[in-house]
Amino acid sequence: MPTDWEERYQTGDMPWEKGEAAPGLVDFLAARPRLERGTVLVPGCGTGHDARVWAGAGFAATGCDISPSAVRLAAEKTRAAGLSAEFILGDFLGDTPPRPFDWIFEHTLFCAIDPGRREDYVAAVRRWLKPGGDYLAVNYLIPDTEGPPFGTTRAEIWTRFSPHFALLEEWVPRSYPNRTNLERMFWWRRRQ
Ligand SMILES: C[S@@+](CC[C@H](N)C(=O)[O-])C[C@H]1O[C@@H](n2cnc3c(N)ncnc32)[C@H](O)[C@@H]1O
Repeated sequence: MPTDWEERYQTGDMPWEKGEAAPGLVDFLAARPRLERGTVLVPGCGTGHDARVWAGAGFAATGCDISPSAVRLAAEKTRAAGLSAEFILGDFLGDTPPRPFDWIFEHTLFCAIDPGRREDYVAAVRRWLKPGGDYLAVNYLIPDTEGPPFGTTRAEIWTRFSPHFALLEEWVPRSYPNRTNLERMFWWRRRQ
């Protein structure tokens, strides 16, 4: 059964909602204060924690989510935080981007979609990102085949992304307590 994401928000069935941004993203931005600022897309943004961290660091952040409730909550929380970010309702896998972005930040969308759609996901990252743009991902390396979340391996990530992106760095990030040592971050640059 495909996941009804809107129903999950409406019923409060959101175990992924940690009330804060991905620790690995927070550390990434804190360690690189001189990164050139630009536009960033957070697909599957949920209630917007990650988009707000990008916005707070000076990026022009856009969150995209397929659930209207997520988009509404993200916009409300961002206003309440006194930050500026755009949130759009859309299907990252199927939609044509309004414009290509300098950065895409992945956090718990790749593991949320049906694994049969992972080729569509890679095509979507290429479509929404500028040539030469950066794709920063927190991937969840768990063995689960019954999801979401659906697991992946470093080998699968490499096979899917390396034909289209050059790997700049990879590392094990700081994580939420229940994901410690189960995540790996990859910083890729889209080939021209
Ligand atoms: C596991 S949740 C993670 C939310 C957020 N990234 C976080 O970590 O708090 C997955 C999110 O992806 C959204 N989503 C699922 N499929 C999507 C799609 N095709 N396009 C955009 N968003 C999608 C869901 O509505 C949900 O908000």
